[in-house]
Amino acid sequence: MDDRNGPTYVPALGFAWLTAVYDPVVRITTREATFKKELLTRAELGADTRLLDLGCGTATLAMMAKTAQPQATIIGLDADPAVLRRGRAKAQAARLEVELLQGIGERLPFPDGTFDRVVSSLFFHHLELGAKGRIAAEVFRVLAPGGGLHVADWGVPTNPLMRALFLPIQVLDGFANTRDNVRGLLPRVFEASGFENVSTQGNLSTAFGTLSYIAGHKPV
Ligand SMILES: C[S@@+](CC[C@H](N)C(=O)[O-])C[C@H]1O[C@@H](n2cnc3c(N)ncnc32)[C@H](O)[C@@H]1O
Repeated sequence: MDDRNGPTYVPALGFAWLTAVYDPVVRITTREATFKKELLTRAELGADTRLLDLGCGTATLAMMAKTAQPQATIIGLDADPAVLRRGRAKAQAARLEVELLQGIGERLPFPDGTFDRVVSSLFFHHLELGAKGRIAAEVFRVLAPGGGLHVADWGVPTNPLMRALFLPIQVLDGFANTRDNVRGLLPRVFEASGFENVSTQGNLSTAFGTLSYIAGHKPV
């Protein structure tokens, strides 16, 4: 979302007052453990991987990455200080060293080529089409040559039931932002930012519709 003062953001469940129930809602409705594990498997993290979790929310994915690869450098970034407070408390309780930064995807606070992987779950559908493109370009910039972008987000519904189940997400997060996902535009946005070998690698049916795994690489 953009306003006259620069980029703003849609909170995790559309409204700030719903952030307190974000974790249980996502756990129950999105098959969260399954899809986040699958996303990390597809990202093929190594012991020395430098990973950015973009739009990290309450840091569940970042924490799973750190658990899977304790030596890896895991950084999460999100615009919302309230959601980051929850993420930091969770990481501290689990004694996991993940760095969680407040920032906006349109202006990532990292030098060019900082990361080997950028992962992102349930994030891009929060953005209008122009912001999707600007943020994809920022991701491209902060990835090292050969680095990969691995996304799990709402995709093209695989059947009419999946389309209908997605309507509550559109009501919460906005029709303007989410319709690009339904139309299958995310891969094209990534290609337009310079990513190569962009593909939808698979889909998962959930209580809120179809989740898609999309990946692409920065040329070497
Ligand atoms: C639905 S939540 C997903 C959180 C987490 N990735 C997950 O899978 O549970 C989307 C997150 O994106 C963040 N966000 C939305 N627009 C943003 C932007 N332009 N820059 C950074 N974060 C943003 C929100 O604050 C929210 O925490």
